[in-house]
Amino acid sequence: MQQHLTIESKLISTLDDVTPAVLSAMAGTQDPRLRTIMESATRHLHAFILETRPTEAEFETALQWIAALGHHTDETNNEVVLAADVLGASTLIDLINNDGMQGETMSALLGPFYRGKAPDCSCGDCIARSKTPGPKLFFKGRVTGVDGAPIAGAQLDVWQASPVGLYENQDPDQDDFNLRGVFRTDADGSFHFTSVKPAGYPVPTDGPVGDLLRAQRRHPMRPAHIHFIVSAPGHKTLITQIFSDTPEALAGDVVFGAKQQIVGDFVEHREPHPDYPDVPLPFFTCEYQFRLTPGEPSYPVPPISGTKS
Ligand code: DHB
Ligand code: FE
Repeated sequence: MQQHLTIESKLISTLDDVTPAVLSAMAGTQDPRLRTIMESATRHLHAFILETRPTEAEFETALQWIAALGHHTDETNNEVVLAADVLGASTLIDLINNDGMQGETMSALLGPFYRGKAPDCSCGDCIARSKTPGPKLFFKGRVTGVDGAPIAGAQLDVWQASPVGLYENQDPDQDDFNLRGVFRTDADGSFHFTSVKPAGYPVPTDGPVGDLLRAQRRHPMRPAHIHFIVSAPGHKTLITQIFSDTPEALAGDVVFGAKQQIVGDFVEHREPHPDYPDVPLPFFTCEYQFRLTPGEPSYPVPPISGTKS
């Protein structure tokens, strides 16, 4: 009888018993960082549930939504990354880890469409590999340290959506690796490449993230941008995007990724230009200086491989 009572006193009988029971069950976690993160996640998750008091039907809907993130993730789409992005979680993580306080170029989200292994290019190459609409863009720039000293041999991994509104991996009409390429800076830290001017682009809306955006009456648009991963030995790798759009489109970015410091100066040319003979008008030029801070280079794991196996 005595023993029976002791066991019963440990069992959960009210709402207040649940959080301490779960925290105590996890108390043996070996990795201290994992323990800190999971304890905090548990406390906040339980507080959120106690605040909103979901019905069982609502809980079912929530779990189905999370499962659908996985079902809509494959080699060409990463719905989990997209969900983190439209909820603002990725931007919080980005700003915590990249505050720009050393004078380096501000970072921006990696996004779900980085696939890695893009073709090696020479300066001046055009990354529009198949017929791609839109005015031509001549992008040039330099990679320097925060002190302005040029970094030779820095690598720039570049990718962008076609102005039709799709990345190459989403679109059977584009060649493999269209609008993707890897460039290296010259001895003076300079690089240049040719492409098309980027256009605004909707995130995929055929999955659970699209369902949520519609329920929240949110548009799916990202402002026009080009992605860059800039890396060099002895420097912290910079993951960023260079934007070209109206103030309204920048402020309305569905993934909260646009920052003023990384809006590019895209210049429209309506007259022939001696440096760019025989180029159809109008065309655009953009010049940008990427500044890297000293640190350990690291490279992100691509959210997609891009090809269906
Ligand atoms: C996201 C990022 C992009 O660059 C893009 O084109 C679409 C979505 C994102 O952060 O989810
Ligand atoms: Fe993008």
